[in-house]
Amino acid sequence: MHFRERFPILESKTYLASHSLGAVPRETAASLDRYYREWAERGILAWDEGWWKILSTFGNRIADILHAPRGSVVPMENVTRGFAAVASSLDWSTKSGGKSRNKIVLTSLEFITSYPFWQGWAEMVGARIVQVESDDGIGVPTEKLLAAIDDETLLVATSHVYFRSGAIQDLRAVARHAHAKGAYVLGDGYQAAGIVPMNLRDLELDFYVGGSHKWLCGGPGAGFLYVCDGVANKLRPKYSGWFGIANPFEYDPATRFAPAEGAMRFMAGTPAVPALYAAIEGVSTVAELGLEKIRAHSITLTKSIVEEADARKFAVKTPRDPHARSGMVCIDFPQAKVATEALVRAGVIVDYRPNCGIRVSPHFYNGKDDLARFWSTLDGFLRSAK
Ligand SMILES: Cc1ncc(COP(=O)(O)O)c(C=O)c1O
Repeated sequence: MHFRERFPILESKTYLASHSLGAVPRETAASLDRYYREWAERGILAWDEGWWKILSTFGNRIADILHAPRGSVVPMENVTRGFAAVASSLDWSTKSGGKSRNKIVLTSLEFITSYPFWQGWAEMVGARIVQVESDDGIGVPTEKLLAAIDDETLLVATSHVYFRSGAIQDLRAVARHAHAKGAYVLGDGYQAAGIVPMNLRDLELDFYVGGSHKWLCGGPGAGFLYVCDGVANKLRPKYSGWFGIANPFEYDPATRFAPAEGAMRFMAGTPAVPALYAAIEGVSTVAELGLEKIRAHSITLTKSIVEEADARKFAVKTPRDPHARSGMVCIDFPQAKVATEALVRAGVIVDYRPNCGIRVSPHFYNGKDDLARFWSTLDGFLRSAK
């Protein structure tokens, strides 16, 4: 376990829900206070003295965690907003060999925000959605996904880690196949960033979105978008605004607006500055510890959860190979929903989802003692429920 003393919630709770909302470090209070004082004492000077800078500090810290080039990651309020930036930058009227190139490929295991967004987008631009079904609710065989990507596909928009099961998807294979067919790939990394080590350059993706409120311990409102260097300057997002242009301070409506360089052109209006102040300490803590250490610790703990679940003959709805899953283990049994309520009442914070069961997610600040408390509380509940 690492940096436990930095996380106040661990003084009173057994906190095992980092797949949903990572714990907040104590230092975040000072960062938010800094934001307030800059505003209260400096007024508009705050922009030049800190608020502009937090945009690139945040983006570059995320870039370091993802092993992406500095400058290739910009803040987005959330993943859905990142989808909009990307979707608006593509040409949905392209033809390929006489056919329209307007297919969006996704799977049946994306986070729920994907469906309303991409369905709405498809309706607006006349695109078609192809949804590749999971057979087991845990993952989608890579071959099955690749078979759906053809030369009518414009975009593959899929998760790096499925939120429902924690299964890691082979996005590199998806990117290679999609590029051979002339399609773009957008990875949703919300459930990967901060828990699965990665090198975004090696994944060969065009776009990658995510956010801070899970494994990055940064709270809501501080999402991000990565755009591959070779792709960004070729695209021109239509969902644009003054933060996405090269010359915002000319304030001249007659100007032909030139897009900003690189990923910056995917920004639009004023970003959520307080959310970035809230996020920076959590994100920096993850960066300080490093993903290799976080992953090694996580694998030790998640392995032990699977062993204990097997010993109790619970269903494990997460890949059994630790290298094929993130930091979450889903365990299911008939009373899982009421057991979750009892655990939470006893101060053991986990959550429940239908078709997943109890989702248990230790992070770098948890240790074996936390898992021992989880199991003893659960066993106690199951004995009393007999
Ligand atoms: C995989 C994944 N994508 C996206 C989101 C959230 O989307 P948004 O940032 O648009 O709220 C979540 C969970 O909150 C998620 O697990």
